[in-house]
Amino acid sequence: MDENLPSTLLVIFGVSGDLSKRYLLPAMAEICASSDIRAHLKLLGVSRRPLAAEEILTDTTRRIAGQLSTIQLDYTQPQEYQKLKDYLKEHPAEQVIFYFAVPPDAAPDIIKHLGAAGLNHDGAKLLLEKPFGTDLASAKELINQTSKYFSEDQVYRIDHYLAKTVAQNISVFLSSNALFRNVWSKDFIEYIEIVVAEKIGLENRVAFYEKTGALRDIVQSHLLQLAALTLMEASPDPFDVGDVPARRLAALKNLELAPDLTSSVYRAQFESYKHEVGNPDSQVETFVALQLASKDERWKGVPIYLATGKNLDRRLTQIRVNFKKSTAAQANTLILRIQPDEGIELDLWIRKPGYQRQLQEQKLSYSFAQSDSRLPDAYEQVLVEAIRSDHSLFTGSGEVLESWRIIQPVLDHWHKGKVPLPLYKPGTPIEQILKNT
Ligand code: BG6
Repeated sequence: MDENLPSTLLVIFGVSGDLSKRYLLPAMAEICASSDIRAHLKLLGVSRRPLAAEEILTDTTRRIAGQLSTIQLDYTQPQEYQKLKDYLKEHPAEQVIFYFAVPPDAAPDIIKHLGAAGLNHDGAKLLLEKPFGTDLASAKELINQTSKYFSEDQVYRIDHYLAKTVAQNISVFLSSNALFRNVWSKDFIEYIEIVVAEKIGLENRVAFYEKTGALRDIVQSHLLQLAALTLMEASPDPFDVGDVPARRLAALKNLELAPDLTSSVYRAQFESYKHEVGNPDSQVETFVALQLASKDERWKGVPIYLATGKNLDRRLTQIRVNFKKSTAAQANTLILRIQPDEGIELDLWIRKPGYQRQLQEQKLSYSFAQSDSRLPDAYEQVLVEAIRSDHSLFTGSGEVLESWRIIQPVLDHWHKGKVPLPLYKPGTPIEQILKNT
């Protein structure tokens, strides 16, 4: 399937950094081991100090040694980009993908320098990591600045949640099962809850987190994308994914915060946070829960609850769709479990066996672990799709702006101060925190 791929050079800025070593290079090693993309792909690691490929490879990534070269280049200096041009002249490739494993503030200048050096030619692509701005205004600025040098179809913005196995299944599952397709609306659905609960805490990302917080880190990107996938129009052909970004965008455009932010948005911080970041005054939230509504006729009046937090009792990402009860029938729940134990679960009511006339709730569930196919890692998937020039798993600039538009009133509200920031004990179950909201 991949034999017609163009020859590709993946240029990695910041190849010796944590992001590259922990995620990118292992994903590349896996892709090269499990697909014929290897034959079309070369990697070039860019670093500010002299560095041999051997120095960055580990036991898991050593198998790409033959494909990885390095180049020393100070990416903050415009004249240094000539080195990259010379390299490309000597090692021509039909497509060149620039990947940024650098601190977020460094990316806009690299983009400018690439453009100024003429490295934005056809066949050049940008593969960008979030954050895409820190609020609506900065996101607009970033997008405008990028568009001076690169057209939208050259830009691939990663939200790795879009590539998770169950996230990719949502639209296929809804389009392919009449049972759900026919009841996917306000007429049958009471409310929707989407959570991204994390057991991990800050993981050495103190400076980043102090500038970011849970709302920017998870709600603006992953949670709103999961909401968009849940609410978007079903496609007549589930595998025609070309218009998925446009359908996600349409769903986001209809979303807004429930009125009265004092009651519809809740934030909290885990107890040891201030100590961990060394800032006794920190007002950064590590937990946030909020309520949204859609203006779409199909969803009018259905509350959509989003929640996320770090340092909770367990890792759990799922979408819970709560169906309405009718006079005779009980309410049912559909759970799309994104992680861990990827799967789909339906709560049903049955007659309890025996002489008593009693109802009993039971689960019908499918776990993707039962599948005999390997579940590719989300990161591997986005890299493969960028190489194949498929935008469906990437966030378009319109989606980035819409997500910031949705949460900007919360940022403004918090900015004014005096919004409570209760504390929770590390390891608290998400359900318990939500009870206090
Ligand atoms: C990242 C956030 O985008 O997603 C992290 O910056 C978070 O704070 C991570 O931990 C969660 O990703 P995953 O795939 O482990 O659920």
